[in-house]
Amino acid sequence: MKTKQLIVANWKMNPRTPKEARALFQSTKRTAGHLTKVQTVVCPPAVFLGLFSPLVSRNCFLGAQDMFWEKEGAYTGKISPAQLHALNVSYVILGHSEERALGETNEDIQKKIRAAFEYRLNAILCIGEKERDHEGHYLSFLKEQIKKSLGKIPGKELGRLIIAYEPIWAIGALAKKADTPRALLEIVIFIRKVLSDMYDKSIAFQISILYGGSVNAQNAEAFLKDGGVNGLLVGRASLDTKEFTEILKITKQIK
Ligand code: 13P
Repeated sequence: MKTKQLIVANWKMNPRTPKEARALFQSTKRTAGHLTKVQTVVCPPAVFLGLFSPLVSRNCFLGAQDMFWEKEGAYTGKISPAQLHALNVSYVILGHSEERALGETNEDIQKKIRAAFEYRLNAILCIGEKERDHEGHYLSFLKEQIKKSLGKIPGKELGRLIIAYEPIWAIGALAKKADTPRALLEIVIFIRKVLSDMYDKSIAFQISILYGGSVNAQNAEAFLKDGGVNGLLVGRASLDTKEFTEILKITKQIK
């Protein structure tokens, strides 16, 4: 497990113009630059990656929101890991619930993870249930997502794997609420147990786990302190300069 906290900004399909995007990136980078104990990753829409490629710094990295598994060829509309690598991109979000909702399968995600590792990209594998039932079916669902997305990838190749737990019911403007740090801690323990059964304990503890879903400056500290996670995956709040700066500063204080 890495010692630095990892804060990932997922801008989704925002903002509209390169001018707005540049301003947002520059402000994030300014704050991130002072925070040596925090690793900040900005994942803008792919159309802006080239713009930010020369601006990557020691504490502020670039991530993509998705990619295809082939390195080149006749795949209209797709982006390859080789292209990301060439643009100074070092992280890629894979299996986000908004991609899964459009038909992406665990098998697709596994191919993407393998391809990401080939190009030395850090893969942020997103998992998360639609609802949290009282019978605990959501735990079997999460276990299946992990097992099928990682498939037969050998443990020794997982050095660049990060898992982001993002319960679908907690994501976006329609979310009723964020998770609670207590429930999150149980999930984090569960994820490590699944990984430990699949591989071994040392691999299970080497993989960073992030939380995503309605993170803001009010709840970030509790998730980081009591949720057992190694960082956060932030959607809406990463588009608000003041709010995101606050989250980064809060993260810096976490022991
Ligand atoms: P929100 O922070 O907007 O709920 O989005 C979370 C998310 O999906 C990040 O990947």
